[in-house]
Amino acid sequence: MTAKSLRMVWEAGAGAVVTKSLGLQPRTGYANPTIVDIGCGFINAMGLPNPGVHEYIRELSSLPDREGMVIVGSVYGSDPGQFAEAADIVAQGGVKAVELNVSCPHAKGMGAEVGQDPCLVEEIVSAVKDTIRLPVFAKLTPNVTNISDLARAAERGGADAIVAVNTLRAMAIDIEAQRPVLANRVGGLSGPAIKPVAIRCVYEIAEAVGIPVIGCGGVTSWRDVVEFLLAGASAVQIGTAIAYRDLKVFDEANNGISEYLAGKGYKEVKDIIGLSHGA
Ligand code: DHB
Repeated sequence: MTAKSLRMVWEAGAGAVVTKSLGLQPRTGYANPTIVDIGCGFINAMGLPNPGVHEYIRELSSLPDREGMVIVGSVYGSDPGQFAEAADIVAQGGVKAVELNVSCPHAKGMGAEVGQDPCLVEEIVSAVKDTIRLPVFAKLTPNVTNISDLARAAERGGADAIVAVNTLRAMAIDIEAQRPVLANRVGGLSGPAIKPVAIRCVYEIAEAVGIPVIGCGGVTSWRDVVEFLLAGASAVQIGTAIAYRDLKVFDEANNGISEYLAGKGYKEVKDIIGLSHGA
């Protein structure tokens, strides 16, 4: 996401916007093809392309009228020190919170390769919390046997919220060429196909931790948002739907939720968080 595209999403009605994940060094990412539409979602393996966190905060600071925009800086790294350093730099760029991408499904030596190990997740979160004063979110991978163990580890490390979930490891094969579609072969599946998995993860995590959960994975309508809230999410992220549908998804979600709450006699979003538990 360029700084300009963050503004477009903000103006479309999002309550906050999250940057593409940023690392200490610039990365060009993988060769094309990096994304494939499989009809029920996308599989992508971009390879964490980004201009590096130093350059990105320069881009952010040149964005006109950015005061008032709530920006969450996403960072990645391969060890607790790198995460802490990247978080520290992005924090100086005026973001309101930092999200730790411990869950990119295919990047070697970073992302899920560190984020599948609860001990490392705890160390990473704790190193970042010792370095910055902003709220810290841990974005977790669903590509594990027990995502609650990761969530508890992030909470022990001092995370202020859990973001669940990042993409699921997936592949598509071109039957004419008889080879994998993506240059990296394996990528991360997002979009409507993963929503039931994401809902299950949010539900389990909400039972396992006391900190807020931010739900994501396949949100395309206000109904999906309500489902995540009932599963125990306090907020949701919308990503793939921006490309899968369009920017109207934010207005439609905001209006749909308000009408749902009013129709059921609730005052605010808070009133329905986690209501499906114990039902
Ligand atoms: C990439 C990063 C992710 O966190 C993800 O879920 C999928 C792809 C990437 O940059 O390749």
